[in-house]
Amino acid sequence: MSNIALLSEWLNLLLRWSHIIIGIGWIGASFYFVWLDIALRAREKMNPGVSGTVWMVHGGGFYHVEKYAVAPDTLPPDLHWFKWEAYLTWVTGFGLLILQYYVNAKSYLIDPAVMAIEPWQAISISLASLLFGWLIYDGLCRSPIGKKPMLLAAILFGIILAATAFYSEVFSGRGALIHVGALIGTWMAANVFMVIIPRQNLAAKSLLAGEAPDPSHGQIAKQRSLHNNYLTLPVLLMMVSSHYPGLISHHWKWVIVGLIVISGGMVRHFINGHDAGKKFGAIAWSLGLAILAFVAAVTVSGLRLNSGTDVTGVSDQEIQSIVDRHCVACHAAAPTHEFFEEAPAGIQFDDLAELVRFAEQVKVQSVTGQTMPLGNENAMTSEEREKLGIWLDQQAD
Ligand code: HEC
Repeated sequence: MSNIALLSEWLNLLLRWSHIIIGIGWIGASFYFVWLDIALRAREKMNPGVSGTVWMVHGGGFYHVEKYAVAPDTLPPDLHWFKWEAYLTWVTGFGLLILQYYVNAKSYLIDPAVMAIEPWQAISISLASLLFGWLIYDGLCRSPIGKKPMLLAAILFGIILAATAFYSEVFSGRGALIHVGALIGTWMAANVFMVIIPRQNLAAKSLLAGEAPDPSHGQIAKQRSLHNNYLTLPVLLMMVSSHYPGLISHHWKWVIVGLIVISGGMVRHFINGHDAGKKFGAIAWSLGLAILAFVAAVTVSGLRLNSGTDVTGVSDQEIQSIVDRHCVACHAAAPTHEFFEEAPAGIQFDDLAELVRFAEQVKVQSVTGQTMPLGNENAMTSEEREKLGIWLDQQAD
């Protein structure tokens, strides 16, 4: 491996690690505050201006938190703001997008069988879609529709499906799903950066000036907070789903994404209800719906469109030529591909017996899925994939 390639692997790992650590911090804090808000109880002998308190025990210590109905008379200098988790999750995520998908656009972002575009075009589409996606989302929240939460939710759901369909038409399967995740993640981080924190700042300013803060600051911040709350779990599922070939190569990604959003949102709804102390019987429907949507996603992902060709009895020679054309540039003892000095994942197909040895992985990557050849660089056709599958089945018989 060249030094540059090795360095970029480590940088990729470092960014991914940071992204996960900081993301856990953000999500953890958000889960905690949702719980905290619901767990507050009015008690006797509370301090003036306090609307409720919570008692907790954790790690051997006892904690007592008070929430002010509006705000205390004065603010301490060391007020914690909880914003860097959100900002840095986005920054590290965007860094990963650049390193993985922009730098290696030909391998990961573009699939010539989907749309034959140049890296600069793919990257421009990516950047423009994230920017316009935010402008549309933000505009909707500010418009009169923003006053009708259910209507807004339905429209946003439609936008997520439309974005998935759009990305599926221009990017590789993996690139498409990661962009749906990036789009929603951008809404969430920008909600914190552009709306929630600025509104909290305005509220804090009026308090320091001895004025009552405009209640609209709180309401607007709360709307975006609620969106973030419901989008957290679906976005996580979207981020990891790009590693599952069966999902990323599916024809109806928008259906799967829709079901994932419903499933994740319903799990969050269930947890919210549970935190609020609701009885299991009263909230079980949301868990049921989450499971139903998940099962539906699994079912849909099993439905495949047939390539329409009738192939039987595939010869070894045919497979040899398919593998020669599509795999061995990378997967060989001495790869000829410019990016690889060693066979990726240590898998070499110089001998067809190796193809049989890795039959299950090959099917997942190249027959049912379309992750391999990487970036579908040499435009492997669905007929060739079908032949490969039939041949592998023949070897097993
Ligand atoms: C342009 C280079 C390239 C070509 C061409 C290519 N691969 Fe790969 N392959 C890779 C890379 C890189 C990895 C490691 C991917 C990863 O870990 O994300 C990989 C990994 C794999 C794996 C292991 C996946 C796993 O982790 O289970 C299989 C199986 C595979 N390829 C099969 C194929 C087959 C079959 C073909 C031809 C139809 C093919 N590859 C063509 C680059 C390539």
